[in-house]
Amino acid sequence: MLTIGTLMNDVNGFTDQRATIESDSSRRILICGKTGTGKSYTLGVLIEELERNEDVITIIIDPQGIFWGMAQPNREQEDAVWDWGESPQGLPITVLVPGDPVERYGGEDVVEELENRGVHLQTLKLNPSDISPEMWCELFDLDISELIGSTLFKAVRDCKKKLGRDFFIPDIINEVERGRRMVDKTKEAVIRRLEMAMDWEIFEEVRYLELWEILNHHGVNILDLSPLDPGRHGLRNLVTAVLMRFIFRQRSIAKRKELLNLAQEMPRVWLAIDEAHNFCPSGSSSLAKEILIRWAKEGRQPGLSLIVASQRPSAIDQEVLTQCDIKLVHRITSKDDRRAINALSDDYLDERLDGSLKQIRNVGEAVLIDDTKETVEIVKIRPRWSFHGGN
Ligand SMILES: Nc1ncnc2c1ncn2[C@@H]1O[C@H](COP(=O)(O)OP(=O)(O)OP(=O)(O)O)[C@@H](O)[C@H]1O
Ligand SMILES: [Mg+2]
Repeated sequence: MLTIGTLMNDVNGFTDQRATIESDSSRRILICGKTGTGKSYTLGVLIEELERNEDVITIIIDPQGIFWGMAQPNREQEDAVWDWGESPQGLPITVLVPGDPVERYGGEDVVEELENRGVHLQTLKLNPSDISPEMWCELFDLDISELIGSTLFKAVRDCKKKLGRDFFIPDIINEVERGRRMVDKTKEAVIRRLEMAMDWEIFEEVRYLELWEILNHHGVNILDLSPLDPGRHGLRNLVTAVLMRFIFRQRSIAKRKELLNLAQEMPRVWLAIDEAHNFCPSGSSSLAKEILIRWAKEGRQPGLSLIVASQRPSAIDQEVLTQCDIKLVHRITSKDDRRAINALSDDYLDERLDGSLKQIRNVGEAVLIDDTKETVEIVKIRPRWSFHGGN
């Protein structure tokens, strides 16, 4: 059970009664609200609760690079934390950095200082073989029905056939070079792109990396995407998609083993995505969208939970949105967004919901809609005991 704050009642305003969310089964949670209303903070509260109460792996997808602050105690709001009955405290944090941390963060001194502050930095590199031929083409914005796209597609597919999962970018280049019927110009165009990908320095070059080896099973994992370029088909989406695909596959295997009473060591996973509209945008495609929808729709069985936070609920793909059985709605003012939230909820909630949404005025307050319990409550989110690095 996750205790996220205190409840409001009609007579006394906010009371001491605690607001909770059941967390023993897989869940999908939407956090939304205008900018600066407390979404990222609330996401951090959920992670703190999970870290303390559940034997799960927690991962935050962090496009803004703000969550490493969780390694430190929340001194800024110390009094509120004590009033809540806790002490300010940092959490065990592993920050996964795509590429070399020194290079990504711009110097040894930054890396050293982060480590001084209790952040464990871990390089994350992607296995080229974890990326499907389709995804390789999407990454370079190539059409599979055109010559360059189909050349790349075929080269990756042939590598998979011949080398299984142990192949790297030079192997793909070799495969392209061997293609007999291709004109040199096509080959060159593909090879140039693959060489460019090597320069990104986010791909494994020597051995297949089991991503489980680098995930912290007893602490919070933060995937810091801030040093990478944004974009729907860019590296942020790629890294997220590859990580999610890997976890989905491994947890599916783990679940099968559990059902057969075989030993397995992979805990359930909670994945929280801040600024989620960038990864599963409504009305357009992105590299991570397919796996995100699959995770939301089919992830319950393998024990995968999801938290998505975004300013605009309507900017998130409907297939993900409609799976969210818990909604935490911070202040919203636009009619469109209110309508979007209303549309997601059962009819019988309509009036209560509209009234509640209008009562949210302050940062850190939210309407908690729980479709399983069929409740609508107004909650004041509790203070964080770890530091919040947001604005
Ligand atoms: N429950 C809370 N208690 C106390 N302070 C809070 C709470 N929630 C948010 N804040 C403060 O409000 C500010 C904005 O919060 P936060 O960064 O979570 O906003 P956001 O909704 O994620 O904004 P953005 O859309 O710009 O990312 C921060 O300084 C944070 O410390
Ligand atoms: Mg935020």
